[in-house]
Amino acid sequence: MSKQFIGVFDSGVGGTSIWKAIHKLLPNENTIYLADSINAPYGPKGKEAIIALSEKNTEYLLNQNCKLIVVACNTATTNAISHLRKKYDVPFIGIEPAIKPAALQTQTKAIGILATKGTLSSELFYNTSQLYSNGIKIIEQEGEGIVQLIENGNINSPQMKGLLINYLSPMIKANVDYLVLGCTHYPYLIPQLLEVLPKHVKIIDSGEAVARQTKTVLEDNKILNTSTAKPSFQFYTNANPEVMESLLNGKGAVKFLNF
Ligand code: DGL
Repeated sequence: MSKQFIGVFDSGVGGTSIWKAIHKLLPNENTIYLADSINAPYGPKGKEAIIALSEKNTEYLLNQNCKLIVVACNTATTNAISHLRKKYDVPFIGIEPAIKPAALQTQTKAIGILATKGTLSSELFYNTSQLYSNGIKIIEQEGEGIVQLIENGNINSPQMKGLLINYLSPMIKANVDYLVLGCTHYPYLIPQLLEVLPKHVKIIDSGEAVARQTKTVLEDNKILNTSTAKPSFQFYTNANPEVMESLLNGKGAVKFLNF
């Protein structure tokens, strides 16, 4: 069982930022990554549609005999993970915007959250932000258009820069000292975000926390792969493989798959 794959899925290429954190902490694990890029972005879709797509991705991964599934997408986690956990008999790890560490550490009592519409409007996000908003201003910003630009390979484009300036300026005006990245595509924008943000603003994303949680759950279920054999990585997308390959920096070849 321990040699079976960890399945990882996202609406697209962004979850590779989570895959990298998992691979760094758990280099022996065999992994399969699914990018549902043909259906990206998930953010503007309603809860029911996000659940249906998450089920489709999960079922593909379960058919490959995955031992654990990482939902490497804030939008799918906040809208669908409780449903997935009830329906399928395999451990699920999800990702949510890291409001807690930002809220606990802020000195200016103002934090910014950049996430998709689907995440910001979810019940799970609402409940977490209620829990930590006492005495703290939380500036929520929908990152409309960002995921599409990344999916199309336009990370370093003038359009992206324009969107980021636009989305961050209310946060800068509110004097935030933490920016929480609530979408797994956004860590790829860190160099550009640092150019736009004042120097004192810290950026938080949840990649390492997800990797640590994955390790804990594998250990608890006694399915951690301790073999030192060369691990197998499979990366699949139902859109253009080139964009994902460029983000993986040679970690693996990406294959087209019509799932
Ligand atoms: N990477 C997804 C997330 O973390 C992007 C969602 C989308 O496709 O809009 O939310």
